[in-house]
Amino acid sequence: MNVLIIGSGGREHALAWKIKQSPLLGALHAIPGSAAIAGLAQCPPIGQDDFEGIAAYCAEQKIDLVVVGPEVPLSKGIADFLTAKGVKVFGPSQQGAMLEASKQFAKEFMDRNLLPTAAFTALVSPAFAREKVKENKKYPVVIKADGLAAGKGVRICASEAEALEAVSDFMEKRIHGYSGSKVILEEFLTGREASVMALVDGEDFLMLPVSRDHKRLSDHDLGPNTGGMGAIAPLDLPPRDLEIIQNDILRKFVDGIKKENIDFRGVIYVGLMFTPDGPKVLEFNTRFGDPETQALMPVIKTDLLELLAACADGQLKGKTLEVNPGVCVTVVLSAEGYPENPQKGAEITGLGQVPGGVEVFHSGTARSGGKTLTAGGRVLAVTALAPALAQAREKAYAAAGKIQFKGMHYRKDIGL
Ligand code: AMP
Ligand code: GLY
Repeated sequence: MNVLIIGSGGREHALAWKIKQSPLLGALHAIPGSAAIAGLAQCPPIGQDDFEGIAAYCAEQKIDLVVVGPEVPLSKGIADFLTAKGVKVFGPSQQGAMLEASKQFAKEFMDRNLLPTAAFTALVSPAFAREKVKENKKYPVVIKADGLAAGKGVRICASEAEALEAVSDFMEKRIHGYSGSKVILEEFLTGREASVMALVDGEDFLMLPVSRDHKRLSDHDLGPNTGGMGAIAPLDLPPRDLEIIQNDILRKFVDGIKKENIDFRGVIYVGLMFTPDGPKVLEFNTRFGDPETQALMPVIKTDLLELLAACADGQLKGKTLEVNPGVCVTVVLSAEGYPENPQKGAEITGLGQVPGGVEVFHSGTARSGGKTLTAGGRVLAVTALAPALAQAREKAYAAAGKIQFKGMHYRKDIGL
């Protein structure tokens, strides 16, 4: 099977690393890929938004399966476009991707299909939003921009004044552009969070090991929200929670997309909170998590390519998942100034001293003049699998300690 991965980050590097191990693989390609992914795949100079260019490349290289990493091309309809050209795609249709790209669409889908989630009101104009905020008596309350905002569109508001400020920032000042043209007012939930990902072929689902992201920049969950500073997988969950996740969330999700004729052959990522009333959905993403995927790939023993192709073919029924024993820890090394204003171009040294058995997935690096340079906010994802959490942490942190670049930052408490 000739495979094309769309994307360029650490998630796509980890997917390429795993797919490369498949006995079913012919040639591996990535668009746009990265300097690191180029070590595993051919990376032609085509942009990930150039759907025509991608389709032509698929025809030329006889691509059997396209695996889409990021949400933006999905929300622009890359799966629909390529499918119409006869190319097989792992990744949902544009309508399916709306479950991530519009929180209102996602919340109304959950409501119609009875998935457990926080109570909400969709606010479609600033005047209506202010009226609803003034009616709200319970604080904190959560205000979310409807559209994609790279993880920055959620405010936990402690008072009416803060909620009104969020409404004004999102809807009038448009700090996240069009994504704030609508907002969601949502009940505040409490509890620990987890990332539940499942492969979906339109009829069936296969749940992957559960992982946990660490979203805040600094230790003890302090500092600003980021795309994710580290992850662990798998998480052990009580049977009661697992049952709810499988029956009340994933089963109802798949029944919902079927009933509503949403073409969804890809991965659903459920951002989950274990509230005192049981697990509830905080959000959907319609793609693999980053950095959760980096922690997940070493845990999965089954041939991932076989599963992704089965999803695209609607043939997931009867497929099972085997996992490797142990726990995987991913520590993200971020650039100076991340997340507000990441500095690029610092030389990275020590990569050659990382011991065997530790994978370093590249999220944002470039090669220049024989050097590896920082080229993004999240730079590297240092990943180690070991029989137990403490050993995995020790291995990952020992490897991270070998790597240096100016302004390098990482959390010391991933997995604690
Ligand atoms: P989201 O992008 O919707 O996952 O939100 C980002 C983060 O905001 C989540 O990981 C939670 O930590 C927090 N959050 C979102 N919705 C709620 C809620 N209803 N109650 C409490 N915290 C929330
Ligand atoms: N790590 C969070 C995400 O992928 O959205």
